[in-house]
Amino acid sequence: MTDARAINAALRKGEDPSPAELNWFAHGLADGRVSAAQAGAFAMGVCLRGLSEQGRVALTLAMRDSGHVLDWDLDAPVVDKHSTGGVGDCVSLVLAPMLAACGVYNPMISGRGLGHTGGTLDKLEAIPGYSVAPDETRFRQIVQDVGCAIVSASANIAPADKRLYAIRDVTGTVESLDLITASVLSKKLAAGLQSLVLDVKVGSGAFMKTADDARALAKSLVATANAAGCPTTALITDMSQPLVPSLGNALEVDLSMQVLTGKLEGPLLELSVDLGAELLKTAGIQGGEAKLRASIASGAAAERFGKMVYALGGPLSFVEDWRRFLPEAPVIREVAASGSGVVTAIDGEILGLAVVDLGGGRRVETDQVNPSVGLTEVVRLGAKVARGQPLAVIHAAREEQADAAAEAIRAAITLGDAAPQPVPLTLERVA
Ligand code: URA
Repeated sequence: MTDARAINAALRKGEDPSPAELNWFAHGLADGRVSAAQAGAFAMGVCLRGLSEQGRVALTLAMRDSGHVLDWDLDAPVVDKHSTGGVGDCVSLVLAPMLAACGVYNPMISGRGLGHTGGTLDKLEAIPGYSVAPDETRFRQIVQDVGCAIVSASANIAPADKRLYAIRDVTGTVESLDLITASVLSKKLAAGLQSLVLDVKVGSGAFMKTADDARALAKSLVATANAAGCPTTALITDMSQPLVPSLGNALEVDLSMQVLTGKLEGPLLELSVDLGAELLKTAGIQGGEAKLRASIASGAAAERFGKMVYALGGPLSFVEDWRRFLPEAPVIREVAASGSGVVTAIDGEILGLAVVDLGGGRRVETDQVNPSVGLTEVVRLGAKVARGQPLAVIHAAREEQADAAAEAIRAAITLGDAAPQPVPLTLERVA
């Protein structure tokens, strides 16, 4: 009889469990036959010993098949983008409605905070009433009516990932090429996509810290997704600093709304356009960049976002007046630089963990996320800072938490003499 102990013992010896065993394990994650301790040991076993390429594919397909695999009969391509995770990465909030406004359908099954990175679902839950867990019928209806819906893996769709993801978040077992591949693609393949673009992040705020590791992950994701029948490409993108200067759930929603309503340009808009254009091209749609930019200028993308929020339980007038609805932290204060110089390095992982410690993420699975906390106005690489000038603004629930965050921010930001060479947002394409 298949048993979690035998599966974990095989992993410990560096052997792949068989596809049948991985299938049993994925179903066991979904229906509770596998305990949290067994799942934690499994994740650590995979992290430490790795799977073969066949093992990685088998785990991905087993996790996809732990629930329903959707299929669609719609009048335009069904597409999606997914990121491997980074600090201040709120592209999903901006891109899903942009894609819907361009006439394609985007059923986006997203994740919560993972390790030091924020989660799209936690960000959306900062919007009062927004439910990330509609039933499957409602999810399908919203995708059909609005063009996009950003929701959670569920008891029906990729439930094995829903459970393993939460366990990886708090057990130091995120940074595994095998587990990231299976996690990302089980959700995406279960959504029944016709094309996918992956945003593989590299740098201090990502899980992959080197170009070689990011390339290996991009190749693994692209090969596995295409082998499973979903036309997929990946862009390797820069995470040597947070994508945006605001980190934290409500704070990133605020920034995304500024971009969606055409009030703010910069890296978030540019990366959303790069990824969207790549995806539309894979889906056979030409002129993607112009269409995506037009969706912002015309207000169509913001309108789609508003419809999605309302359909999922949020306020009807969210887009017109979003700040009225987003929670604010009681303690808001600047962190002053203790020296002078040019910002030469930013450790995104330290900043991300500072947001988790402020209450913006989880240290154990049962932690409640505080949507209001985080950082804003984080300085950018190359900025000149004089002693006493602000490095960032902290939004905290309590003074002592703000003190700890201030120390982390000073440790995360290096001041030196010469500005670093600017790097492009999109570094490589993997097809
Ligand atoms: N996004 C996911 O869905 N899973 C991971 O493991 C990392 C990023």
